[in-house]
Amino acid sequence: MPVGTLATVKGLTPAQLETTGAQMILANTYHLHLQPGESIIQQAGGLHRFMGWNGPVLTDSGGFQVFSLSALRKIKEFGVTFRSPRDGRIIELTPERSIQIQNALGADVIMAFDECPPGDADYATVAAATERTYRWLERCITAHQRPDTQALFGIVQGGTYPELRQKAVNALKELNLPGYAIGGVSVGEDPALVREIVQFTAPLLPFEKPRYLMGVGTYKEMAMAIASGIDLFDCVIPTRFGRHGTALVKGERWNLKNAPFREDFTPLDDSCACYTCQTFTRAYLNHLIRSREMLGYILLSLHNIAELIRFTQQIREAILSDRFVTEFAHWLS
Ligand code: GUN
Ligand code: ZN
Repeated sequence: MPVGTLATVKGLTPAQLETTGAQMILANTYHLHLQPGESIIQQAGGLHRFMGWNGPVLTDSGGFQVFSLSALRKIKEFGVTFRSPRDGRIIELTPERSIQIQNALGADVIMAFDECPPGDADYATVAAATERTYRWLERCITAHQRPDTQALFGIVQGGTYPELRQKAVNALKELNLPGYAIGGVSVGEDPALVREIVQFTAPLLPFEKPRYLMGVGTYKEMAMAIASGIDLFDCVIPTRFGRHGTALVKGERWNLKNAPFREDFTPLDDSCACYTCQTFTRAYLNHLIRSREMLGYILLSLHNIAELIRFTQQIREAILSDRFVTEFAHWLS
């Protein structure tokens, strides 16, 4: 899922986004609550109509963003309070409030309100957050008003501790939710541990339900996670890199500002069917990025999303014809 935090995948129209092959996109409860507020979006007829995207949308619950972005946040059993970065007002987000906002936004998949401790948190801290996340999940399920049209996914926390991950999965499975996510990865822990956590946790989740790894999306992480059974990702990399003049090409990261591209009149990636690669040269992209023209960032974002979507499509095809482990071996080691 490309990331469209504020009901826009930055720089792209929905029509452009569609050409990349992207299907579901991700938006955020925390940001949309602050601006423009869920009531505006509800009045517009929901997120899809508001932003002109007809495909599926998932909203994250906002807890994670409060923890990572907000000043003066306080976590209690009831919920989280924080100071609005817009007007300094104290805002309270609880499991009930997050679900109420997500019901108003109207995404197809909504996420449970969870507590994500930092990657270096000790066992007792992570155990407490994981248990609280479970109690909050029960409150989310009770608060959810539209279970027939909005699928509520539970989130497995448990940090880098396999027993906590195992316990969390056991408890969540009992609730028979329509999908499950692994949260609390890539939050400051050693990258080698991300892999261990995913390899341990993903196979514990129900095989027949969607399994979503939150906030992950480099080539290597995706290939590794898919090998463990993950179906769904979200990541800001393609659009954030695009806005910084970086292109994802054949598994590498290229800075389009670099001198060798100045007189390179070949396409960015001659094997790519995206509009950017079909229409423009590396020299033109180099010129746009050097001139800080917005079109440069747009064209790179478009290509980067197309590139990562194609990567997952190729993996899907490889799995279906039993070629995944051999053809993607270089990403899996
Ligand atoms: N995005 C990335 N990680 C997380 C997480 O642990 N929880 C939530 N809600 N969103 C995330
Ligand atoms: Zn391209």
